[in-house]
Amino acid sequence: MLKILVTGATGNVGCEVIRLLVSHDCHVCAALRNPDKVQQILGSKIHCVWFDFINPDTWASAFEGVNKLFLVRPPALANVRKQIAPALNAAKLAGVEHIVFLSLLGAERNRVVPHAKIERYIEQLGIPVTFLRASFFMQNLNTVHREDIKTRGELFMPAGNGKTSFIDVRDIAAVAVRALVEDGHLGKAYALTGGEALTYYEVADIFTEVLGKPIRYTNPSLLKFIWQMRERGLSLDLILVMTAIYTTARLGLAGGITPDVEQLLGCPPLTMRQYVEDYRKFWL
Ligand SMILES: NC(=O)c1ccc[n+]([C@@H]2O[C@H](COP(=O)([O-])OP(=O)(O)OC[C@H]3O[C@@H](n4cnc5c(N)ncnc54)[C@H](OP(=O)(O)O)[C@@H]3O)[C@@H](O)[C@H]2O)c1
Repeated sequence: MLKILVTGATGNVGCEVIRLLVSHDCHVCAALRNPDKVQQILGSKIHCVWFDFINPDTWASAFEGVNKLFLVRPPALANVRKQIAPALNAAKLAGVEHIVFLSLLGAERNRVVPHAKIERYIEQLGIPVTFLRASFFMQNLNTVHREDIKTRGELFMPAGNGKTSFIDVRDIAAVAVRALVEDGHLGKAYALTGGEALTYYEVADIFTEVLGKPIRYTNPSLLKFIWQMRERGLSLDLILVMTAIYTTARLGLAGGITPDVEQLLGCPPLTMRQYVEDYRKFWL
């Protein structure tokens, strides 16, 4: 039976990938730093293995017998050579036959982002791969921005009037599962976006309608955003990453829409309205 190891299993995308994989005829394994955590999130039926990208003691047993790997780069690990590549070497040594890598939309044109370095490294290793290059996740709004929306009724990001082609991670996970269990995805790169590009003013209107309480997009300046994030105690590295992401949107570079999700899943991507309806408990 196909053995599939899922990294980032407690995170946004990995968690959904596991939820979908359990109904397939394969042996699903969640790769975890803390096995108790996944059982709280996903229940006790999930098979877990101890895995940490930066702990070599965990690699050989985690990759043993694994045919396919769903690879998520933890956001905090930015040094690919030191923090990601050694574990990938262990995957190669263990005979992993296919990696489905959660990458970033446009990574092929942006050589400085860690995702581009990981893509190149996997290709150099010669492990067959599928790249899922995803746009900005809707789920950032119920994680990173949850408190602003819930307690202040505010969307606080310096994205100007630029549009973003938000994607729901449930669509990314559905594509990932196809890439993992079906034939025909080796050597492919998919550009995954939602089906609509929205400004944050439009997103605020959707929140207001669905939640039945006013949510405003306050469109702070970059300086105000950086100052506010520092006040909240975020690390400078994280603030810089967030600033880069929202500047891309501000410049009108985050609104491109691709047909890949619909072509792969046979139905249109989930909409922002559907997402807010399904996740409304996060903001009430
Ligand atoms: N957010 C976006 O809009 C967006 C868009 C495109 C691409 N991406 C990319 O998507 C990736 C993040 O995916 P996500 O949002 O699904 O993840 P996430 O929710 O940020 O979760 C990170 C996962 O990595 C695990 N992790 C952290 N450090 C680890 C380590 N040393 N060894 C093993 N596992 C470790 C965490 O496990 P613990 O529970 O143990 O902490 C958690 O499961 C990033 O590479 C990001 O750049 C994000």
